[in-house]
Amino acid sequence: MGEPLMHPLGLLAEVTHRCPLGCPYCSNPIALESRADEIDAVTWARVFAEAADLGVLQVHLSGGEPTARRDIVEITAAAHSARLYTNLITSAVGVTEKMLAALAEAGLDHVQISIQDANAASADRIAGYDGAYVRKRALAAAVVRLGIPLTVNAVIHHANIDRIADVVDQAVALSASRVEIAHVQYYGWALANRAKLMPTRQQVEHAVDRVEALRERYRGIIVIDAVVPDYFARYPKACLGGWGRRSLNVSPSGKVLPCHAAETIPGLEFWSVREHSLSDIWHSSPAFNTFRGTDWMKEPCAGCSRRLEDFGGCRCQALALTGDARATDPVCHLSPYHDLVADLAEQRDEAPYIYRRFRADRTTAAEIAKVG
Ligand code: SF4
Ligand code: FES
Repeated sequence: MGEPLMHPLGLLAEVTHRCPLGCPYCSNPIALESRADEIDAVTWARVFAEAADLGVLQVHLSGGEPTARRDIVEITAAAHSARLYTNLITSAVGVTEKMLAALAEAGLDHVQISIQDANAASADRIAGYDGAYVRKRALAAAVVRLGIPLTVNAVIHHANIDRIADVVDQAVALSASRVEIAHVQYYGWALANRAKLMPTRQQVEHAVDRVEALRERYRGIIVIDAVVPDYFARYPKACLGGWGRRSLNVSPSGKVLPCHAAETIPGLEFWSVREHSLSDIWHSSPAFNTFRGTDWMKEPCAGCSRRLEDFGGCRCQALALTGDARATDPVCHLSPYHDLVADLAEQRDEAPYIYRRFRADRTTAAEIAKVG
C-alpha cells in the first residue's frame, strides 16, 4: 500500500440534499436522496462521536443546504459536544439572523458562504434563484457581527471568471478572512453542464495572473485559496488528499463515501452508519479499500515517482473521461488519454444551464443521462 493507514481529519456531513438554489455545477449526485431517507439527529450525534474517536478534527455541515433541516441547531450542538470544529457550508438562503444566533449558541465555529458572482444579476442567474445575492451579503454581515470567522467560496467558470478580482474585492468588503476560488470540477451536475461552464484557456491564464496580483495586494488582509483548474493543469491533484486517506463523506441517508462522486463508480459497495460504526467503515469497508494506497494502480501511475504525491489524481474523473476508474486521471499529461482533456477544454456551448432541481430529480436524472 506504500504508507500506513492514516486517520481521517475531516468529515463532510451532507445532512440533506434539499436546497433552494439550482447551481448548475452542484457536486451532489444526479439522483438526490429524499427527505424521508435522511438519518436523524441522534444518529448524527453518534456519527460525530465516532468521528472524534477516529481522529477527525473538523466537521463540515453541508448539503444541499444544511439549514433546510429543522434540527440543524441540534446537529451542530452534537458536533460541538463531540469536540469537533464545526463549519457550516451554506448558500445563506433561508438562514435567518435568529437561526444564526442559535447556531452560534450551539457552538458553531465557522461559516462558509458561497457566492456565485460579484454582479447581482449574474449571481442570481447562476444560482437559479432571484434575490439570492442580496441574502448572501446580508448573512455574511450577520456572521461577521457575531464574530464568527467567515470564508467566501466562489465557484469559478466561464460566466464569472473574468470577474475574479471583483469576487475577491467583495470578499474583502464582507470582512471574510478567507476566499476560496474554486474552479468547477466536472462531476454530477457540472459534468452535464461542462460545455457551458468551461472557461477558455485565455480566461484561465488571465485569472491565474490576477490571483497572483490579488495575493500581493491583499497580503495580511485576506487569505486567497486558488489552484489551476484541472483541465488546464499538467498534473492532477490528490483528490481530497488521496482516496480513503484524510476524509470521509456521510450522505443524507447515512452512506459513507470516500468522496462526493464515489457513487458514480460502478461496483463499489458503500456501508452505512445505520449498520456499521464509522471506524469499521474507515478500516474495513470495500469502497474505502478499493482505491486506497497505490496497489490498485496501472501504468503509468504504478511506476511513477509522483504516485504518493497525487495518488493518480481523481478516480471519479478517470471514470467519467475514460470509462475506467483505475486509469490514470487524464488531467495528467502522462495519461494516454490526456488529449481528450485538451479537446474537452476547447468544447463549449451557450445553451441554457441544466439547473439542479431537488423536486424534479428523478425526471431530470433521465434527461441528464441523455445529455451526458
Ligand atoms: Fe500522478 Fe499517475 Fe500522472 Fe504520475 S502518472 S503524475 S502518479 S497521475
Ligand atoms: Fe471521487 Fe475525486 S471526486 S476521487
